[in-house]
Amino acid sequence: MKARQFKLGPMDNFSYLLWDEDTLHAAVIDPAWQPEKLKSFLAEAKLKLQAVLLTHAHPDHVNALGSFEDPEGKLPVYLNDGDYFMLGSRPAGLRNVSDGEQLQAGSLKISALHTPGHTPGSVCYLAGGFVFTGDTLFIGECGRVDLPGSSPEALYESFVKLAALPDAAVVYPGHSYNGDTSTFGVQKEYNLYLKLARLGRRDDFLKAVG
Ligand SMILES: [Fe+2]
Repeated sequence: MKARQFKLGPMDNFSYLLWDEDTLHAAVIDPAWQPEKLKSFLAEAKLKLQAVLLTHAHPDHVNALGSFEDPEGKLPVYLNDGDYFMLGSRPAGLRNVSDGEQLQAGSLKISALHTPGHTPGSVCYLAGGFVFTGDTLFIGECGRVDLPGSSPEALYESFVKLAALPDAAVVYPGHSYNGDTSTFGVQKEYNLYLKLARLGRRDDFLKAVG
């Protein structure tokens, strides 16, 4: 499985394409800002889009959703229903994705991890050794928890889940803050929040995010 990172827009957002090199089946993650860049890559590589995966519904992650919408709803758009309230309009293909769910997008197999905290419906997607962490986990940082629907306590529980992921798993975050990518092994040591969660230090985690 291959993944490509696209830094797009004025807020250093990342959108991603994920695909199977054999079947060319593909998924787009958090389409925003400059959909033409994603679409031209899809066309040049002859990829066949099978699904849209949303890590959460903040506008800077979904503002190009309309460019990928299939009016008949045949292209699934996955989002945890905890974030439905933030969508301006609901795409025809909108489908809830819940914790632990295994998604099949053509030949792509993707696991979902519900990681609330930044938003109630934040999800990390795991596929092919990559983890798309949205605004839950950045390189050396965690997502903001001072926004409507945020919860520091929920973020702690989410980070406990993330701290159990394999060291070799690649972090693909939702913004280019402090860096573009890393591994969970490195982040478990150098990301204060992930380290505190790994060590079970809940009070210190809550103080640090406060
Ligand atoms: Fe966000």
